[in-house]
Amino acid sequence: MCSALMLVRDKLLADINIYVIFHYVNSVNVKKGDFFMKNFISSLIHQSKEGYIPYDRFIYEALYHPEFGYYQSKKNIFGKKGDFYTSSYVHPVFSQTLTDFITEVASTCNLPLQICELGAGEGRFAEQVILELERRNLTYQYIVIEKSQQLRDQFYKRIETGHDHVQMFSALDELMDHQHSFEGIVFSNEFLDAQPVKVIQNKGGELVELVIMVDSRGELTEQSIACSEEIKNWVTHYFIDLAEGQRAEIPVYMPSLIGDLSRLLQKGIIITVDYGYSNQEWKHPARKNGSLRGYDHHRIVEDILHKPGEIDITHHVQWDPWIAMGQEAGLNIEGIYKQNEFLIQAGMLTYLQEESSLDLFSEKHQQNRAIRTFIQGEGFANMFDVCIQTKGMEAKKLRKLLTKKPGFM
Ligand SMILES: C[S@@+](CC[C@H](N)C(=O)[O-])C[C@H]1O[C@@H](n2cnc3c(N)ncnc32)[C@H](O)[C@@H]1O
Repeated sequence: MCSALMLVRDKLLADINIYVIFHYVNSVNVKKGDFFMKNFISSLIHQSKEGYIPYDRFIYEALYHPEFGYYQSKKNIFGKKGDFYTSSYVHPVFSQTLTDFITEVASTCNLPLQICELGAGEGRFAEQVILELERRNLTYQYIVIEKSQQLRDQFYKRIETGHDHVQMFSALDELMDHQHSFEGIVFSNEFLDAQPVKVIQNKGGELVELVIMVDSRGELTEQSIACSEEIKNWVTHYFIDLAEGQRAEIPVYMPSLIGDLSRLLQKGIIITVDYGYSNQEWKHPARKNGSLRGYDHHRIVEDILHKPGEIDITHHVQWDPWIAMGQEAGLNIEGIYKQNEFLIQAGMLTYLQEESSLDLFSEKHQQNRAIRTFIQGEGFANMFDVCIQTKGMEAKKLRKLLTKKPGFM
């Protein structure tokens, strides 16, 4: 068969495959995500003219496919019964401390008490902050941006939306269609680490891109292709020279996200909480395999191709490119802090309480333990960073707030 005919045949077969998978999945009672996603991705690969898809496409479908993506699933994702904890699931003292910081920044730096949260998940942080603002009788506006319909539905169940002070959008673009500018505080927690990335590797002194294809047994597998000039230029400009054999992720989402944020924000502060590495840290031999990984019931999954749609997929944020691209787009960098240092500065220790009860599960003991988790040791205390950027505001007062106590960065 000539190659043009083979291409037409393969495309037809792939179309039929996707059609059959959709209808089979919708007609029988199978565990949908498991079955569908791997076959769907295989079909996308067969259908592509190159015979592979890049990692960012794979991650996008595995996490955000509108029906069968991981974040659309009805299973528990967050907290003890889910796949991973985020800070709001440890204890409300996290959001209380952040509420203190946000309200202080707003009043000291003359910003409206307007908060825009990116990637709010099921809205645990938003709910806690809103309750706290209500309790303090403050006038505020809270805008939630959450891509997953399933998670937005969870949020609707908990918080009354639709009135002026709590609004919800499925994407930043949607908010930007609704309003051209924003003044206030943009907050996110573990939003960047959940974005699709490409993967590159230094093989024998050459940069290659790692992509995904289907092997002879029908399993998803990696293949390397020549790296585009665009990626090479990006690496030269923003990143590091990878060591022989080293893998790393390319945050292809950053330019448009930073551009949108900078266009939207007229005056205010961007607080980005996440785990990540500086370029210096990326040079450490421990970073040899990059940072892309999955989470399934609180366990790390090294092979993220194995269970697409069923597991979380995440990577460490590249902080230097995030900061540099922000500066190029007009966002000033005020500092990047270890989460424990930031939380101490923001006043978390004032929530410690004296407790004489012998009941170790009393509310006070639980709160004190949570504070220790945020302040001491590995994990929530020092694995996370807090990046603070500003635009259009006099940041002198903010800097004072961030350096109130001696010993803080
Ligand atoms: C790791 S979860 C963190 C959820 C929450 N911030 C927390 O700390 O519990 C990442 C969230 O970001 C959302 N998300 C990812 N990309 C998004 C985008 N482009 N627009 C809006 N939400 C997005 C995901 O659906 C998911 O709910």
